[in-house]
Amino acid sequence: MFNLPGITYSALQALLLANVATAWNNGVAKVPPMGFNTYVISLASRLSRVKLMCGVISSSSSSRWNRFACNINEQLIRDTATQMKNLGFLVAGYQYINIDDCWLTASRTSDGHLIVDSSKFPSGMNNLTSFLHGLGFKAGIYEDLGTKTCAGFAGSLGHELTDARDFVAWGFDYTKIDNCNSGSYNGTNASRFQRWTNALTQVKAETGKSLVYTLVEWNSFDAWTWGPNTANAWRIYDDIQANWGRIKQILNQASFIGNYSNFYGHNDLDMLENGNGNLTLAEQRSHFTAWALAKSPLLVGTDVSKLSNDSIQILLNPEIIAINQDTAIGEPLKPFFWGKNPDGTNDPTFPAQYWSGYYKDTHHTAIMYINFNEVTVDLNFTLSHSPHLKADKTYAVRDLWQHKDIGTASKFFFSGSIAPHDVRAYIFTEM
Ligand code: GAL
Repeated sequence: MFNLPGITYSALQALLLANVATAWNNGVAKVPPMGFNTYVISLASRLSRVKLMCGVISSSSSSRWNRFACNINEQLIRDTATQMKNLGFLVAGYQYINIDDCWLTASRTSDGHLIVDSSKFPSGMNNLTSFLHGLGFKAGIYEDLGTKTCAGFAGSLGHELTDARDFVAWGFDYTKIDNCNSGSYNGTNASRFQRWTNALTQVKAETGKSLVYTLVEWNSFDAWTWGPNTANAWRIYDDIQANWGRIKQILNQASFIGNYSNFYGHNDLDMLENGNGNLTLAEQRSHFTAWALAKSPLLVGTDVSKLSNDSIQILLNPEIIAINQDTAIGEPLKPFFWGKNPDGTNDPTFPAQYWSGYYKDTHHTAIMYINFNEVTVDLNFTLSHSPHLKADKTYAVRDLWQHKDIGTASKFFFSGSIAPHDVRAYIFTEM
């Protein structure tokens, strides 16, 4: 117990609670957005981005690009959306079709509006968003809060309200705001991104339309501390790449910050790399399960027309998606036992292995285990280790990759032969 001059402990507590309660909630993206995003970067390094930010290399310099990157146009978006609908992605929950960097020109009109690159989008954005809406999708668009986007096109600094109004007028439902070329803005990371929060709040007051707001902040990697008051999702790490090493780095980061993520405000582990690079099916399964159960946005980042049937089946697993999209429990799964490393170890090469969280209510528990070893292992844990399982209860266990009920567990759980880099996911239902 303590007292500050003029304020009692309980008043302070009420103030803090009020602060939590007033966290930015614009009524959209209660659960993590799912969809497609045009941009996937594979060979990016901090160095190449720093050079890009300083204007040393231009958008056309190349080796950092993977899949579409800057090579986007309206036909690609239309074809992708049509394929995603035909393949069952839309009904599975993938509703946003997002256009990343490179849709715009480097300059603005004389009255300050962004200019759509008509060589890539000759029919204009209204036609495109109408087409997407007609199929049943929602539409997303990218901007940058600095003076230029990461690829060197017109940035939004000082034009946030104009751009937010245009995005709504063009029919968009979602915006991703990036962090390049922001050196001329002297404020905190939070205040830089708050300019877009304010613009979107004003546009909502003017039009009634709320855009989903997702942000990218990789200068200080602190967005989870102020993100819940600012946006619907915030990136937690540097750009994803299509390799197992980067997936482990991002998941290691996520393992420590699950408490910051909940309804309307989500840790964003970045796009899905399924279908890119040389990820094995086991790695694709683990990547998708981990992203979904950490309650990250799930944005496919590959050429959908080239996805193998196996990769499609991974991305469409309804039992994994149901946990990501749970409207009753917003908290992500969190590690309850690190496995090989002592609990709490920060190891980007070997993240926490045993994760749990409630699903639907406190009588259902989702469990995830990932085998980061290079050898096949058995899975073995004591129920009392998880704060989401009760030591004195018996549970019915469902395997979410085999899609079948596999028996019951009390006190201990065991499952054999998990291949290197593969995953197990279960729902334990209290009996
Ligand atoms: C990066 C961002 C990527 C992509 C790219 C576009 O900063 O992390 O996700 O949006 O910019 O240039």
